[in-house]
Amino acid sequence: MVGFTRQTERTSSLEMIETETRPEENVTPSDKTAELRPLTEIRPPVIFEELRQGVLGQDKALRFVSVAVYKHTTGRVAANLLLIGSSGTGKTTIMNNLQRLYHDIPEYRPFRAVTIINANLLVDSDRMEFRPDRLLTAVEQRARAILGRKPTPEDLKQAIERATICVDEIDKMSAVVAGKPNAIGVVLQQGLLTLMEGEEVSHRTHAWVDGVEKEITLDIDTAHMMFICGGAFEGIYDQVYNRVTKPGSGERIRSRTVHTAEGQVRIEMRFSLADFLQGQDLFEFGMVPQFCGRFDQTVLLNDLDAKVLKEILLHSYDSPFVRSRRFFRVMGIDLEIEDLAAALIAERAGRETRTGARSLRPIFADIVNPFEFDPEGQDVLTEDRRLVVTADMVRARFQRAN
Ligand SMILES: Nc1ncnc2c1ncn2[C@@H]1O[C@H](COP(=O)(O)OP(=O)(O)OP(=O)(O)O)[C@@H](O)[C@H]1O
Ligand SMILES: [Mg+2]
Repeated sequence: MVGFTRQTERTSSLEMIETETRPEENVTPSDKTAELRPLTEIRPPVIFEELRQGVLGQDKALRFVSVAVYKHTTGRVAANLLLIGSSGTGKTTIMNNLQRLYHDIPEYRPFRAVTIINANLLVDSDRMEFRPDRLLTAVEQRARAILGRKPTPEDLKQAIERATICVDEIDKMSAVVAGKPNAIGVVLQQGLLTLMEGEEVSHRTHAWVDGVEKEITLDIDTAHMMFICGGAFEGIYDQVYNRVTKPGSGERIRSRTVHTAEGQVRIEMRFSLADFLQGQDLFEFGMVPQFCGRFDQTVLLNDLDAKVLKEILLHSYDSPFVRSRRFFRVMGIDLEIEDLAAALIAERAGRETRTGARSLRPIFADIVNPFEFDPEGQDVLTEDRRLVVTADMVRARFQRAN
């Protein structure tokens, strides 16, 4: 058999974080035993390598994220980022991996209240109000998980003030939706920008004072929190594309050479937002200029090409192949995939430019699902109980689908 990849399973604390919320979940054994390094020694390249374990093909974006994490954990300098990238290119994955990073590095224990929240949860659209209390409640939950059973008011305040706040789907809170003003979007952006500038917010909760649990009010200073907002900004692609391709714009879309899995070479013209995006485009999209001004950096994620999609299929923590491998292992079967088979699947997924790495899942499922019901009954297992997804299987499946 030529060139198939035998996958070694990686276990990840990411899964642990997703499923467990017990107190003291964030105390790893290494927290208690390791010699802790000064935070200044955990340099951006170290952070970058950690993040890269779970986020593929986004090195440029991860460098910015790593520097922001370093600033946040050392100087307590605000380091806010706006992540923009097509659907399925890894924005939420970056946020999840930040949680993993803070969990896996023992020195980062004080910063582990990393909270991912959808932008629309931060507003009440009936009352047209920004709801920072919902944010603080979510952060407090994470803070309690770090601190264990009986946190004092000071413990809680410190953990909340060092939090990283990931606001996802920020683009859905634009000031303009379908060409019409969207007042709630302005409410959200203005509320968030005030928090990002640093605000004292009163937060009612309970904590342990002299061994007794009491109702308390914490004055939370948000100045040292780190904010990472992310969104697909879908309409912005067409918006900038139209600007760039308008006659007389003076801009040119770049062409690039693509090598296909079957060995052919093609020239493709592919529009990349990163080549053309300007601040003005964001304002036109409906982002309030003052809100955009609170970010140290606007970070554009790459669209994922077939090469990266193949890596994601084979190696990312929650790729459909890695999940399916886990499923077959329950039946005592080793799932493997030929290198060319993975390349063909990635190439097909790459054609779905609107869904990014998400398109790997249905394509892979279509190939592997027929075997899940009764693998023994289908003449696909080797004697040593391996099931190999071959390039021929993939081609046959694609032909049937066409
Ligand atoms: N760069 C990447 N590295 C590893 N896995 C990725 C990457 N991008 C996407 N994925 C995988 O694809 C799926 C969707 O990714 P993710 O949720 O991060 O997309 P997104 O950019 O947040 O998209 P959306 O704008 O639709 O929310 C996830 O299962 C993730 O594992
Ligand atoms: Mg997302």
